[in-house]
Amino acid sequence: MKILVTGGAGYIGSHTVKELLKKKHEVTIFDNFSSGKKELVLKGELFTGDLMDKKAVEKVFSQKKFDAVCHFASLIAVGESYQDPGKYYSHNLISSLNLLESMRQHGVKRFVFSSSAAVYGIPREIPITESHPLDPFNPYGKSKAFVERILEDYERAYGFRFVSLRYFNAAGADPDGRLGELHDPETHLIPNILLFLLGKKNSFYVFGTDFPTDDGTAVRDYIHVKDLARAHVLALKKLEDDTESAFINLGTNRGLSVLEIIRKVEEITGRKVRYIKKPVRKGDVPVLRASRDKAERFLGWKPAFSDIKTIIQTAWDWHSKHP
Ligand code: UFG
Repeated sequence: MKILVTGGAGYIGSHTVKELLKKKHEVTIFDNFSSGKKELVLKGELFTGDLMDKKAVEKVFSQKKFDAVCHFASLIAVGESYQDPGKYYSHNLISSLNLLESMRQHGVKRFVFSSSAAVYGIPREIPITESHPLDPFNPYGKSKAFVERILEDYERAYGFRFVSLRYFNAAGADPDGRLGELHDPETHLIPNILLFLLGKKNSFYVFGTDFPTDDGTAVRDYIHVKDLARAHVLALKKLEDDTESAFINLGTNRGLSVLEIIRKVEEITGRKVRYIKKPVRKGDVPVLRASRDKAERFLGWKPAFSDIKTIIQTAWDWHSKHP
């Protein structure tokens, strides 16, 4: 298929581009490089532009024909979304609408959306299934839930087909060492520990040590970025076969606490992680863990790289070699 990938120079986008190219899809990347990196662009035609700029989006669609769109480009920092909700709503909603409208005008109707576990809010049941009520509480999660509602309307009114992939905790790096995680500022757990060990961060904090979990620290469902990327390829295949639309969790159904991650990092790197205890970060919930039954049923997807050793080893290799 001919696929437009927005945010193709970002962390998950670039890993997905690699998997798509491997399957011989024709890829066009659209990225404004606000957080994407030139180093993460592999092959494929590149349009540098902003999805907020309707004309720039229109230009891509008038120059090229697409069979499907994978929409990664988004603001993703939960903490920042509390401080500046206007920025999050305008960016994440308007950019998605500009894209959907150009798709509609040019008859492109297959859409894979980067959604998030954040759409569920505080989990009422663990593991979280896709039928869990949506009750996001941070503006980031709300913006993702709004786009999901918009997609349902586009399906009803215009015959769009979509797969909305609700990511749990993306982590790890390309096992070939070509791609990795490059956020600035970095807020995620695993890269923060590794950057601290490499002397690129002065301190490492554990946010929350009094959660109602076995060791008092927050439990998350870490999924290797290559497994996420593989799921996008499968989602596109389903759309090519004219499947019904779906919302799918991407997680492993295995939870690990912050302290368990620290111990694993110590084991793999052979270095001691010294940390400072801090209060709970705003909006952090005690446990997030995905049911992956629907991903297996609908996409035929199973995690293959998401054992915690592979996640941490590939991330460590990447961070050590890419100063
Ligand atoms: N943490 C630390 N120290 C750090 C960084 C994180 O203790 O330096 C803790 C956090 O407080 C949290 C856990 O490690 O308890 C995981 O934190 P991450 O920032 O790695 O991931 P989150 O679970 O907060 O966020 C992820 C995605 C978001 C998504 C969210 C909710 O990155 O996009 O899950 O689904 F919104």
